[in-house]
Amino acid sequence: MPILVTGGAGYIGSHTCVSLLKKGFEIIVLDNLCNSKENAVKCISRITGKDVPFYPYDLRDKESVRSVFEKEAIEAVIHLAGYKAVGESVREPLKYYENNILGTLNLLECMREYGVRNMIFSSSATVYTGALDKASAKALTEESPLAVTNPYGRTKLMIEEILRDLHQSDPVWNIISLRYFNPIGAHESSLIGDDPNGIPNNLMPYIVQVASGKLEKLNIFGNDYNTKDGTGVRDYIHIMDLADGHVAAMKKLNDCGGGFTAYNLGTGQGYSVLDIVNTFSRVNGVEIPYVIAPRREGDVDTCFADPFKAEQELNWKAMRNLADMCRDSWYFQQSIS
Ligand code: NAD
Ligand code: WQD
Repeated sequence: MPILVTGGAGYIGSHTCVSLLKKGFEIIVLDNLCNSKENAVKCISRITGKDVPFYPYDLRDKESVRSVFEKEAIEAVIHLAGYKAVGESVREPLKYYENNILGTLNLLECMREYGVRNMIFSSSATVYTGALDKASAKALTEESPLAVTNPYGRTKLMIEEILRDLHQSDPVWNIISLRYFNPIGAHESSLIGDDPNGIPNNLMPYIVQVASGKLEKLNIFGNDYNTKDGTGVRDYIHIMDLADGHVAAMKKLNDCGGGFTAYNLGTGQGYSVLDIVNTFSRVNGVEIPYVIAPRREGDVDTCFADPFKAEQELNWKAMRNLADMCRDSWYFQQSIS
């Protein structure tokens, strides 16, 4: 029976669909294409040689979501659809609450109506960042304090709480929340990857556009953080490792009978902005001109995962290194330039 992947045409969704299909799962994609293109769905088929039923529907339109559950015998849902730009969420909080929260509520109501109780939710390391202690740089476990600093992050935390309540109300609900750290890179085919609209917010999409000459130089947001070289440290994870994490979580979901559990998907390794710039230049032979700019509001010194729980309970571990991430990001950018 198929898995419904909401947001399956997006960056993480398209790679996750490839991993699932390669491991023999059947999938259906629902995506309103507000931040992706239908071509990504075609590329998933091209890479895997499998058909991908696609519904270009909006989660906020409950009747159209219901029609998918009516038509398809869905067994589980991987819910990635949502908005994700931190800065935009500060400027337009209602847009974020409407899309992320309302979309999720509609989806959950349809799942309940059609007896589908298995879900994997796309959460984020952002659920920890509001509680980070500036004086220390410890790996974040799933037990670390949760606090957020912006409406986008609040939607992630709220949805986790909704899911926890749901499981409490009916223990048959079987839910895994995956807290992603910083996914970068692309599938080795370069057919799918991260291709944001407008000027990128995130580091790697910005770097590749500097490398290709589309942008003039990278602004490094602060070099006076309490880190080894003063620039921010994050846990970058290859997108295909992250995608494989969903396969591992889906297997776990199939093995257990109800629960709400959160897992970090990260490597456990922190790299600074300068590490990324230098590795990218070395691996790809391209210079990245940069200037030091003021700190970006809301940024923290250091944020990296303790991935032990996912290793132990999901039998999953990130395998690809930073050089792989830099190389695959650049190959993808060249393929679309
Ligand atoms: P993305 O924008 O590439 O993918 C999200 C997809 O959801 C897009 O294809 C978009 O068209 C679709 N979508 C949005 N609202 C929708 C709606 N109402 N109905 C139907 N489809 C809708 O983003 P991504 O990087 O692939 O992120 C996927 C999920 O993972 C998001 O929920 C995001 O918050 C979360 N996440 C992302 C990161 C990251 O760094 N990329 C980190 C942590 C968590
Ligand atoms: C990484 C580092 C920046 C851009 C964000 C979201 C988080 C999650 C992942 C969804 C930081 C520095 C960046 C630039 C720079 N997404 N930087 N110049 O902020 O760790 O996390 O994406 O859930 O919620 O907040 O990722 O890639 O934006 O930044 O110097 O042009 O690169 O200051 O140290 P971040 P990022």
